[in-house]
Amino acid sequence: MEGHTVAYSQSTIIELMVPSYANFGGKVHGGTLMSLMDKVAYVCASKHAGNYCVTVSVDNVEFLQPVEVGEVIKLMGSVNYVGRKSLVVGIKVVAENLQAGISKHTNTCYFTMVAKSADGNTAEVPPLILKSHDDVRRFLSALQRKRLRMQDNEFMDKYRQDFVYDTASAELLYDQRCHVLLDAEK
Ligand SMILES: CC(C)(COP(=O)(O)OP(=O)(O)OC[C@H]1O[C@@H](n2cnc3c(N)ncnc32)[C@H](O)[C@@H]1OP(=O)(O)O)[C@@H](O)C(=O)NCCC(=O)NCCS
Repeated sequence: MEGHTVAYSQSTIIELMVPSYANFGGKVHGGTLMSLMDKVAYVCASKHAGNYCVTVSVDNVEFLQPVEVGEVIKLMGSVNYVGRKSLVVGIKVVAENLQAGISKHTNTCYFTMVAKSADGNTAEVPPLILKSHDDVRRFLSALQRKRLRMQDNEFMDKYRQDFVYDTASAELLYDQRCHVLLDAEK
C-alpha cells in the first residue's frame, strides 16, 4: 500500500528550559516554545514527505499556563492530515517539573507544512495510512479546521472590502473599550 502510517513519522523533542530562555518575568519566552514546535513539526513533516518542508501556517497556539525555567518540555508531534502537497502536524506540549514529578499539558497546536523537492518546487506527499480510531478522528478534525479557516478567510476578505463605518458598526462599538475620534483625522 502506498503511503506511511502515522507512527512512521511520529517524533518527540525533549528539552530542558534553561535560564537563557526566560523572559523579563522569569518565565519561558513564548517564542522559544514556538521555535521548538516548529522544529518538531519539521521533523514529522519531512520524515513523512521524504522531502524538505516549509511552515505555511499555525493554528491554535495558546499558552494556557506559563512554563518555568528548570522544567522539561516534551513536544510530541504526529502527522494528522495530508493533502496533495501539504501536511498538518499536531503537536502536544507537556511541561514536567522533575523534582515534584508533576506534568502539565501546556498546549496543543497544528502546523501546516508544505513539501518542496530539491528543485524548490512544491512536491506531492505520500498518503497517510490511518490505523486507529484516533488517527481517523484527527484526520477529519484537520479537514474541518481547513474548511472553517477557508470560510473565515472568505468572510474577513469580504468584510475588509465592504467595510464602511456606518450606524451598524458604530452600534457594535457601543460597549467596547475604545473611543472613535474620526473627526480628529480632518
Ligand atoms: C508554502 C508555499 C510554497 C505555497 O505556495 P503556493 O503557490 O500556494 O503552492 P501551491 O498552490 O502548490 O499549494 C501547495 C499547498 O499549500 C497549501 N497552502 C498554500 N497556502 C496556504 C495557507 N496560507 N495555509 C494553508 N495551506 C496553504 C495549499 O492548500 C496546497 O495544499 P494541498 O496541495 O495539500 O492542497 C509558499 O506560500 C511559500 O513558499 N511560503 C513561504 C514558506 C516559508 O518559507 N516558511 C518558512 C517561514 S518564513
